[in-house]
Order: sequence, then structure tokens, then C-alpha cells
Amino acid sequence: MPVERTLSIIKPDAVAKNVIGDIIRRFEENGLSVIATNMTHLSAVEAGRFYEVHAERPFYGDLCEFMSSGPVLAMVLEGKNAITLNRQLMGATNPQEAESGTIRADHADSIDANAVHGSDSAENAAIEIAFFFSGLDLHSH
Ligand code: CMP
Repeated sequence: MPVERTLSIIKPDAVAKNVIGDIIRRFEENGLSVIATNMTHLSAVEAGRFYEVHAERPFYGDLCEFMSSGPVLAMVLEGKNAITLNRQLMGATNPQEAESGTIRADHADSIDANAVHGSDSAENAAIEIAFFFSGLDLHSH
């Protein structure tokens, strides 16, 4: 299995619930290492740039509003099969469909307030990591 890097965002709902530690514990216990962190509060315009790929979707406006409603924790996770593994740990986008024991099953309230974001491909991981971090910010260990 290749060692990969992926972008994870702990969204405003999960930051507000004080479950940052629980989410990072799940990553670490499953072999993923946090190699960069950035707590930030996105503006609606910045959230819109990050989610530009969804610009034509009906939920885009609500998504940008939600993602700029409070601080988020952006992180780079590194490990074997990191992109797929992170998505398995997150669970389905809609928490009602998320397998029990996943982050979204345990912490998400709705498809908008769904606790975490994770890159869905190697190509998007590279783009999304570059949105929040420069190469100098990444600390493999
Ligand atoms: P995320 O993985 O961050 O990627 C885009 C986000 O849009 C998604 O999580 C959801 O929070 C949000 N969203 C809202 N409605 C939908 C929908 N119908 N399909 C996919 N994503 C949605």
C-alpha cells in the first residue's frame, strides 16, 4: 500500500462540540499521522474557493455559509492508503447513511453539519493540501 497524504478538515460543528481530540485519536489509532495543522476561520469567499468544484450544486450556498460559520481545523494526514482510510474512518457524507463507529455516525448532525471533510482522490488531495499549506508546513515524522 502506498504512503499517501490527504487533507482533513474538522468542520465548524465538530470544533464547536469540542471533539477535535476524539477525531484525531481515531486517525492516530488507525495508523495516520498528523503532519500539519492550521486552525482558521474561513470567509464565505474562501470557503467558496475551496469548494469551487461544487459551485453549480444546489447546496453550494449553504455549504459556504456553514463552512465560514466558525473556526475549522485543517490537517494533513499521512500514512499507508491515507486517502481511502480517512474516508472509511469518516463514514458516508450523509450521517444517516454512515456506518456505526465512524466519525460522522458518532459526531455529525446533518449532511451539511457532517463533522469532517476528507479529500476523495490523490489529485484532489494535492490541490486541497496546497489550498491550506505550503511545502514548508508539512512535517513527516
Ligand atoms: P464534504 O465531504 O465536505 O464535501 C462537500 C460537502 O457538501 C459535503 O461534505 C456535505 O457537507 C455538503 N453537502 C450538502 N448537501 C450535499 C449533497 N446533497 N451531496 C453531497 N454533499 C452535500
